[in-house]
Amino acid sequence: MKILMVCLGNICRSPLAEGILQHKANEERLNWTVESAGTNGIHIGESPHHLSQKIAKQNGINICNQLARKFEAKDFEKYDKIYVMAEDVMTDVKKIAGKYFNVQKADYFLNELHAGKNEDVPDPWFGEEDGYIEVYDLINKTCDAIIAKEVIKKN
Ligand code: 4NP
Repeated sequence: MKILMVCLGNICRSPLAEGILQHKANEERLNWTVESAGTNGIHIGESPHHLSQKIAKQNGINICNQLARKFEAKDFEKYDKIYVMAEDVMTDVKKIAGKYFNVQKADYFLNELHAGKNEDVPDPWFGEEDGYIEVYDLINKTCDAIIAKEVIKKN
């Protein structure tokens, strides 16, 4: 199973989602590859934001080796599931993917926590450290829900 997490810059939210879900999947011995990308391409090649790195590290998750890349249409061929962090990201994903967009594969990440609500993970980019902590907790809870659903399916 290959999963892609997508936000705008691929430096704040989706690197956390990648790191946290990969960590939990490994703990459950699930054969999952979790990666991430951004739709705006502004930060290509950069490491995750230092506050995302810091909060992840405080929680035992290492995201410092990730590098930002831009989401591309062919990601719909490479991944089984594409989670988007917010409505503006979904709009971009549809635009970039064009004919490759697959409604079966793409979903709002937070729908795994609050089904069908299409909620946004708030963008912590302009804020302070408390925003990153809040986003970490929300992403962590949602990753727990994704893993719990998978474990129930397996048993
Ligand atoms: P992210 O946050 O989408 O969670 O990585 C952002 C980072 C950078 C920008 C926007 C959002 N930016 O416009 O540079």
